[in-house]
Amino acid sequence: MNITIGSDHGGVELKDEIKMVLREFEGIRVKDVGTFGREAVDYPDIARKVCADVVAGHADRGIVLCGTGVGISIAANKIPGIRAALCGDVYTAMMSRRHNDANVLAMGGRVLGFGPAGEIVRAWIRSEFEGGRHARRIEKVMELEDQEA
Ligand code: RB5
Repeated sequence: MNITIGSDHGGVELKDEIKMVLREFEGIRVKDVGTFGREAVDYPDIARKVCADVVAGHADRGIVLCGTGVGISIAANKIPGIRAALCGDVYTAMMSRRHNDANVLAMGGRVLGFGPAGEIVRAWIRSEFEGGRHARRIEKVMELEDQEA
């Protein structure tokens, strides 16, 4: 599984922790699109880089981080083809895969401790989409991209 990960300055420390967690999984290849320091950057630019890889199929899934996870999840969900789930607990992370087929996980580096964030990532990686009735709903969600409000 290829995973592209990125964060703004608010999530840069958590990004390094998550990369260590991802090393536990055999067969996961990680691409880090930054940021790499504490200098302020704009989270929409990071969301675009990560999601571009997912939409193009270069990454199977993406992980995005900012201070709260809110800004970068909003930005990611503006990109056609992206279903980003902002997760602060293991159950939500698991269900975002099983029911929502989330292809991007968003978290807040200033909200979550390294331990809970690691468990969220593990659950999100291990969980698979259940399809069935959820597939119909996801189809409808994706159709919203082409519809007038
Ligand atoms: C940056 O200071 C902060 O606004 C950003 O990381 C994020 O929390 C936005 O939603």
